[in-house]
Amino acid sequence: MPKARLVKIGEILDGDATGEEITIQGWVHRHRSTGGIVFCVVRDATGIVQCTVKKDNVDEDAFTQAEGSSFEASVRVTGTVAEDERAPGGFEVKAVAFEEVGESPDIPLYEEMGIEHELDHRHLWLRSRKLTNVMKIRHTAVRAMADWFEENDFWQVWPSVLTKGAAEGGADVFELEYFEDTAYLTQSSQMYLEAMIFSLERVWCLAPSFRAEKSRTPRHLTEYWHLEAEQAWCDHEENLKIQENLVQHACNTVAEKCPEELDELGRDPSTLSKVQAPFERITYDDAIDHLQDEGYEITWGDDFGAPHERALSDLHDGFVFITHFPAKMKPFYMALTEDERHAKCADLIAPEEYGELIGGSERSTDEASVRQRLAESGEDVEDYEWFLDLRRYGSVPHSGFGLGLERFVSYLCSLEHVRDAVPFMRTPARLYP
Ligand code: 4AD
Ligand code: MG
Repeated sequence: MPKARLVKIGEILDGDATGEEITIQGWVHRHRSTGGIVFCVVRDATGIVQCTVKKDNVDEDAFTQAEGSSFEASVRVTGTVAEDERAPGGFEVKAVAFEEVGESPDIPLYEEMGIEHELDHRHLWLRSRKLTNVMKIRHTAVRAMADWFEENDFWQVWPSVLTKGAAEGGADVFELEYFEDTAYLTQSSQMYLEAMIFSLERVWCLAPSFRAEKSRTPRHLTEYWHLEAEQAWCDHEENLKIQENLVQHACNTVAEKCPEELDELGRDPSTLSKVQAPFERITYDDAIDHLQDEGYEITWGDDFGAPHERALSDLHDGFVFITHFPAKMKPFYMALTEDERHAKCADLIAPEEYGELIGGSERSTDEASVRQRLAESGEDVEDYEWFLDLRRYGSVPHSGFGLGLERFVSYLCSLEHVRDAVPFMRTPARLYP
């Protein structure tokens, strides 16, 4: 290979290599050969560009390699960059050398391969434009939220994933042998975050959460990434403000930084740049009244299903908080209203039928009440003595929330199913690859 500057394809597309002889390395995205010319579209992490390999411009061995290479083979191409309106991205590399680095005979990826085949070959399908765009947007959203937390005096922390108690309810927990004991995979880092506010006051984490739910819906995974925050000296109202500002910042940042990726996924970036706090708030009781007026068969104390969330998010055209659920529907740790009928909590419902994105609440600081509700929910109170200590020693009003990252990414990317928001999805039916 001749010596030339090694560039990323993005530099070519930005016009920073025009007229120059450069080398790129990447994978064959499309391949076509006609009468002594090979048209080879190459992709790398930054973009795709067409390379034209003419028999007369390269040596014989290079031309044989170019002709013989195929979809998803890895290649190294040296050539001169020229503007070309007809080429995707507006540039072309006129090859003077071509080398196949790794062949790719009959990679099992096809146009109409069906969802099961696609999921069986997820490790290869991750190369698709769609998943590449999603992964970039996911990265950008997480970075934006980390920045927001940093700007707002939150500390990032790393709680444990193996636990002794189940935070969100016994039935949906993965149990495993832990030497002579039993451990659970965490459903939420909340309780550990609560322990950390007494020194750091405002904390957040991004960790996997596990739910052994059999539900096969486009929104449920058995392993998902949970972005959680907990704040000392913070009540229910302040908790909602934090959530809406965080979500707004992430939506606006993704719109600004990933317009092309969004476009390719069919999401209009302006939808995300228009997301603006404050979000609408509706109480659970008003939501029930509204649904009953609309003819839904739902009574006070019922949980909302997807159709109900849809009807509620249709009321306003944006994110909506549903607040103050009946106390008996919610876990032991939530603070209650004075009459103890409602919890000081909220679910944030995403627009366009993406459903519940965030669950959060003010926390109960009353040891006796937490103890009693723990026992009522059938938990072994002994496993939670450490958690009750947090109510005994220097307790403060505090609140927090958890955001399902895959649901957020699905919304951002306009995806039909949360499985495409994560590289390797875990559901009751899928553990491979
Ligand atoms: O509403 P959840 O269960 O709340 C908690 O776990 C609280 N302890 C959080 C806290 O206050 N720190 O879960 C929070 C969010 C949901 O709103 C949803 O977005 C997501 O986690 N989630 C799931 N995402 C994918 N698959 C599942 N099976 C999910 N279950 C919950
Ligand atoms: Mg919830």
